[in-house]
Amino acid sequence: MTTPPTVSGSAPGAATRPGGTARTAGASAGRGGTTAAAGHPAAGRPAVRPVERPRRLRSTPALRSLVSEHRIHPRELVLPMFVKEGASEPVALGSMPGVVQHTMDSLRRAAAEAAEAGIGGLMLFGVPTVRDAVGTAATDPDGILNAGLRALVEEVGDELVVMSDLCLDEFTDHGHCGVLDGAGRVDNDATLVRYQDMALAQAATGAHMLGLSGMMDGQVAAVREVLDREGHTDTSVLAYSAKYASAFYGPFRDAVESQLQGDRRTYQMDPANRREGLREATLDLAEGADVVMVKPAMSYLDVLADVAEVSPVPVAAYQVSGEYAMIEAAAAHGWIDRRRAIEESVLGIRRAGADFVLTYWATELAGWLR
Ligand code: PBG
Repeated sequence: MTTPPTVSGSAPGAATRPGGTARTAGASAGRGGTTAAAGHPAAGRPAVRPVERPRRLRSTPALRSLVSEHRIHPRELVLPMFVKEGASEPVALGSMPGVVQHTMDSLRRAAAEAAEAGIGGLMLFGVPTVRDAVGTAATDPDGILNAGLRALVEEVGDELVVMSDLCLDEFTDHGHCGVLDGAGRVDNDATLVRYQDMALAQAATGAHMLGLSGMMDGQVAAVREVLDREGHTDTSVLAYSAKYASAFYGPFRDAVESQLQGDRRTYQMDPANRREGLREATLDLAEGADVVMVKPAMSYLDVLADVAEVSPVPVAAYQVSGEYAMIEAAAAHGWIDRRRAIEESVLGIRRAGADFVLTYWATELAGWLR
């Protein structure tokens, strides 16, 4: 028992006219009669006939797939990894189930596995045994991060983009991302000189992309200048442009055994600020960033969308340790479906405008996408 669609009297598009009320044009009294069988909830009620039916395109898996606006490709995923100096066994991280501090050997194996899964790149963080006020180990050519980068370039450098964390916090005994002045404040300009030395040490390992995560003013220009001066014109810069002072970095600080007391609010951004995220990205673009990034991802999708709207270079987003930990913890309790939550979270970040995503699930997610 069917009744023809009751579109008469409403111009095409009428149902979607701004301010229009009638998404159910034709529902006017009586015209369609009643169609529901006795006992149906609508029995005896006038038929309601929507003109616009978006559900039509959701009716089969094939239709949904055809009209899907975004899908994740393994190449758009970057795996952050930790390598621990002197470790003889990988060390599991309690606050990041499934993530470890690698030994040199397990780092190579995990990198090969990531390449096999077809992801796009690796982002390496080092965990040194010795820390000091200026982060000397960061610029030691044989320091754990530089040694790890060299191993990754050798192991998978032809298949994956090898990225380095360019920041002092893992290497300083006070845990800040820069060096301190006499009053104990983070000294922006003195830190830039350390970043320049770090950039040269990392470029010498063959790392392809340097990830500037310290949030010092002028860091992109300082690093670009020294790289170019020393002939590393092909070493690219990923700027952590809009990086917020976030509670969601908690598990990461366990992962790198951070010595930080206090917080990073004098250099990382205030979570309240949206406009300023765009300002930071714009400055990094002017200073020569090859890629700009927003971090964390899930709580900052508005900033990500703003940056993606104007950026002439690729935009990345970092789904950080706390985002990982929350989903893992809820899934472990059986409160959410782990795989669906992971896929939805990364898809949301792509949809908001990220060209690629740093996520601790990169290898596993890539495996599901095959
Ligand atoms: C700084 C850095 C941090 C993260 C990446 N780079 C920590 C911080 O700013 O305190 C956090 C990443 C994560 O939480 O997954 N070197």
